[in-house]
Amino acid sequence: MIEAGTTDSAVEVLFPPDVIAARIGELCQEIAAAGLRNPLVVPILTGSFVFSADLLRGLHAAGLTPEVDFLTLSSYRHTTRSAGSVDILRDMELDVADRDVLLVDDILDTGRTLAYAKDLVAARGARRLLTCVLLNKRVRRVVTIEADFIAFECPPVFVVGYGMDLANRYRELPFVGRVASD
Ligand code: XMP
Repeated sequence: MIEAGTTDSAVEVLFPPDVIAARIGELCQEIAAAGLRNPLVVPILTGSFVFSADLLRGLHAAGLTPEVDFLTLSSYRHTTRSAGSVDILRDMELDVADRDVLLVDDILDTGRTLAYAKDLVAARGARRLLTCVLLNKRVRRVVTIEADFIAFECPPVFVVGYGMDLANRYRELPFVGRVASD
C-alpha cells in the first residue's frame, strides 16, 4: 500500500493505523499488569508525542491514572544519521525521586537516547523505572539496552509518520511508513 506523500515523496505504509491501535491496546494491558505504583509517564520528545498520546488514553482504558511529564532530548537534527551524543533540550518539571516512572520513546535505534534518559531518571532517584517504545530497530544498536515494552519490531529503514519526522515533515501521518526514496 502506497500513500501519496505530503509534497514530493511517496511514503510506503509499514504499520497502518488500525494495527497500531490494536497493538497499543495490548501493550497497555501488559503495562497495567506490571503493577506500577502512582506511575509517572515520561514521553521523550519530540518523536514520541503521538504514540504517547494514544498510549496514555490506552492506559486510562486499562485502569491506570498516570501523571505525565515531558523530557526533550536531542535527536537526528535534519539528517537520518545519529549524532552520537545526546543533549537535554528541555528538562522535566516534576521530581522523579521515589516515583515509578515509565519512559516512552518512538524508536529504540542505537540505544543512546533511551540509555541517556534511563541513566538520568535513575540518577534522580526513581523507585522503579520501566521503558516503552513503539519501534525496536535492533540492527543499529551500539548501547546494550532493551525496552521493557515494545509495540513492534522495526525493519532497518528510516521511518516517518505517527509523530516521527524527516526534517520536521511527515509527523502528521496517521501511520508509520518509509519514505520511498530511503
Ligand atoms: P537512538 O539512536 O538514540 O535513537 O536509539 C532514538 C531516537 O532517534 C530518532 N530516530 C528516528 N527518527 N525515524 C525517525 O523519525 C527513524 O527511523 C529513526 N531512528 C531513530 C528518534 O527520535 C528516536 O527517539
